[in-house]
Amino acid sequence: MSLLEFLNLGEQPLANGFVCQEQLNDPEFTEFTFNLQAGFNESNYLVSLMEFVDPARLFDDQYAYHSSGSQTMRDHFKKIAEWIRQSLRPRRVLEIGSNDGVFLRHFPTDVGIAVEPCGNFAEITREAGYPTYNEFWTIDLANEIRDRFGTIDVVYAANCMCHIPKVGPAFGAIEHVLADDGVFIFEDPALDKMLVKNAYDQIYDEHAHLFSVIALQHLLDRNDLAIWCIDHLSVHGGSHRVYTKKILSNRPIEASVDWTIADEFDQSLECRSTFTKFAQRVRKSRRELVELLQRLKNDGKKIIGYGATSKSTIIYNYCQIGPDLIDCVTDTTPGKQGMYMPGVHIPIVAPEEGMNASVDYAFLGAWNYGQEVLKKEAAFLNRGGKFITHVPHVRII
Ligand code: TYD
Repeated sequence: MSLLEFLNLGEQPLANGFVCQEQLNDPEFTEFTFNLQAGFNESNYLVSLMEFVDPARLFDDQYAYHSSGSQTMRDHFKKIAEWIRQSLRPRRVLEIGSNDGVFLRHFPTDVGIAVEPCGNFAEITREAGYPTYNEFWTIDLANEIRDRFGTIDVVYAANCMCHIPKVGPAFGAIEHVLADDGVFIFEDPALDKMLVKNAYDQIYDEHAHLFSVIALQHLLDRNDLAIWCIDHLSVHGGSHRVYTKKILSNRPIEASVDWTIADEFDQSLECRSTFTKFAQRVRKSRRELVELLQRLKNDGKKIIGYGATSKSTIIYNYCQIGPDLIDCVTDTTPGKQGMYMPGVHIPIVAPEEGMNASVDYAFLGAWNYGQEVLKKEAAFLNRGGKFITHVPHVRII
């Protein structure tokens, strides 16, 4: 059965396609856009984009997102790496989508193996001494790695599997490289958290799919993998860490699997109507956000954006919020500073420059780091500054 569309977020640029000053001034410059729509597959319950952007366009040598950019994520990867080291004692750990090596760096170079299609990041793990494949994950690469290193004890992928349009064959290639008693652990944003938080900005070009565990069970089962444990994580707005094994391995299945699936059925994640209702809430969220920003602006308030996230690209473009409402967006990533938000072209500046005394309101583009941000910006809050969020509904914090 084919995908049935439930939400149309309109014409969108690449969520991480930050625009530089020269491009803005170049009359020849035309920004790539595509129609961002999400659909639901009634036969396997998978939520996917109706149209995929070519991964080679998204994950290139200028990829902007650094996994080690926040303390939250550095701590997160250290914790899971330590657990893997102590509990699974792997001889080899293969990471698919290793980014800047924030996870792999907790393993010796004769244990870790990196697969990373973005050349700028592959260079980092290669220079650090890890065998690094600057390629997309395919069955050919799985064969090459298996021939060179033998089968692998632990395969790990964080925020990577949901990026892969043909995710079924990608799971199949992992099963092929995994040792018979090996463990494949992956984590991605959780579909139920997106629905509960009304976080429609989780739907963007890089997220080819948003996984429920119900849908994952179908996909994994078809590739001879089985889920034996699920962790519920707060990162990236709410994620699942899914622990899988080969179907024939006798590792016991833990209670977290059954109760997570029961919970998803309670939330009707297998019903298309759940997603059409979500789409109605998304349209309401857009109306309310635009109204709030316009009212504050009419009252003479200065509003900025906090965090030039991919997620906020979707919000700004879907709600058509531009520099007339939001003066600038602050971001700690040096590579984003001096650039402009994709599509709407709001300038991005360093926090030291943007979070100055003239700011009244900051829209939380990086809402998934809410706690970290509120702690860090105590001075802004103490002098009467306020944050705005759309999660789980539009409000001033
Ligand atoms: P992330 O939420 O991981 O995003 P995406 O939606 O792009 O996948 O990215 C967080 C961005 O927010 C990153 O560019 C860094 C920025 N940021 C700040 O500017 N200040 C902060 O305090 C934090 C935590 C993040």
